[in-house]
Amino acid sequence: MADVRRIVAVLSVFLFGLCQHGSSQQPSPVSPLIVEEQLLYVGGTWGEVHTYRIPIMVGTPKGNLITVVEARQYSSGDSGPKFMAIRRSEDKGSTWSEMAYVLNDGTFQDGMNLGTILVDEITNEIFVFYTHCAHYVQCKVATTYMVSSRDEGKSWSDPRNISQEIGTQMFAPGPGYGLQKKYAPHKGRLFTCGHSTLNMNAISCLVSDNHGKNWTKYDAVKSIPYGQRKKTGDFCPGEPQPLELPDGSIVVNARNQYLYHCHCRIIMRSYDGGETFPLEHLYFDETLIDPAVAAGVYYHNGVMYFSNTASEVHRSNLMLRWSYDNGTTWPGALPIWAKPAAYSTLMMLPTNDVDDQQHLYLLYEKGEKSSAESISLVKISLYGNL
Ligand SMILES: *[C@@H]1O[C@H](CO)[C@@H](O)[C@H](O)[C@H]1NC(C)=O
Ligand SMILES: *[C@@H]1O[C@H](CO)[C@@H](O)[C@H](O)[C@H]1NC(C)=O
Ligand SMILES: *[C@@H]1O[C@H](CO)[C@@H](O)[C@H](O)[C@H]1NC(C)=O
Repeated sequence: MADVRRIVAVLSVFLFGLCQHGSSQQPSPVSPLIVEEQLLYVGGTWGEVHTYRIPIMVGTPKGNLITVVEARQYSSGDSGPKFMAIRRSEDKGSTWSEMAYVLNDGTFQDGMNLGTILVDEITNEIFVFYTHCAHYVQCKVATTYMVSSRDEGKSWSDPRNISQEIGTQMFAPGPGYGLQKKYAPHKGRLFTCGHSTLNMNAISCLVSDNHGKNWTKYDAVKSIPYGQRKKTGDFCPGEPQPLELPDGSIVVNARNQYLYHCHCRIIMRSYDGGETFPLEHLYFDETLIDPAVAAGVYYHNGVMYFSNTASEVHRSNLMLRWSYDNGTTWPGALPIWAKPAAYSTLMMLPTNDVDDQQHLYLLYEKGEKSSAESISLVKISLYGNL
């Protein structure tokens, strides 16, 4: 049975390849099915970590999956001292490395907030961005840091203070992944997006055109009223996840922090490599209902995938959706977990391996009573039901 499924899947990828070269731009339908689920991080059980939160994940061109989360040592709150906890898989998500703890905050009260992860597919260097003092608990200046790895996430550089280049306005990357542009304009550019404090809140993107040596920050979309205390209903985009479409534009799918216009996602688009996101291309996707949470988006072979807690009010009911028309309509939905859930992120392995072209990975916060209980990895076969 598994063999038959595999042959069908290989065939559908092959046929899709043919279609792509033909006149039709119509992607072949997917039929996602969960094939494996594992709890990778469980709070309160291993060592002294109270709560694991904020899952981020990247797949490397060498075929490894790297997951990074905040290990919140003494409480579940956003501030407080943390470790960066890392687990890696070299066999497509079946087995995972022992937990590695990197960058101990010690007793620092407003420690690291993740963050984004991205891989430069030309140099194979991996970058992680995070912020210190995002809540101004213990200091007057927030600092954005970057660490990098040249060995597939096994060891990491010392943190580099990139506020020296991008300025000291608070910048909270992601959470999610960053990208390297595959298409013009600015092919090869690395970019990653984030947001500022809730009062200032602007969506900004960092870009590097020299493989991560230097970074520039572009303020993309500002909140209204800008720089002032917000009320429910104000316009305040937060926690953005970008993706690139084959025309070289960047689409950002963002949290709608104060539920302006709808309890749903804000969509923005940039045609200049993430430097500007003109308002005439901004819209609200009323199908993607959302309680204000960090969500996952991924684009592969003509299909856009989206994961969030599909509810207007509650952080529960984690759902995967998919679209064949760049997010205009969402004909497909796969329920993942009906009970409490929160942040989620999506990833595929960016290799030419047929198996990697058929599997999507979803990392999300999951619990029975509280979404902060654990972080779970789901492996999804895209042609599972065919
Ligand atoms: C990081 O650099 C900025 C800008 O130079 C500086 O204001 C800030 O104090 C630095 N952060 C730390 C922790 O040294
Ligand atoms: C570019 O980054 C390097 C370190 O990678 C740093 O030494 C240099 O000062 C940066 N240049 C600018 C213009 O920020
Ligand atoms: C999706 O966007 C790409 C450009 O990035 C375009 O070529 C394609 O036709 C679009 N698909 C649909 C169904 O609109």
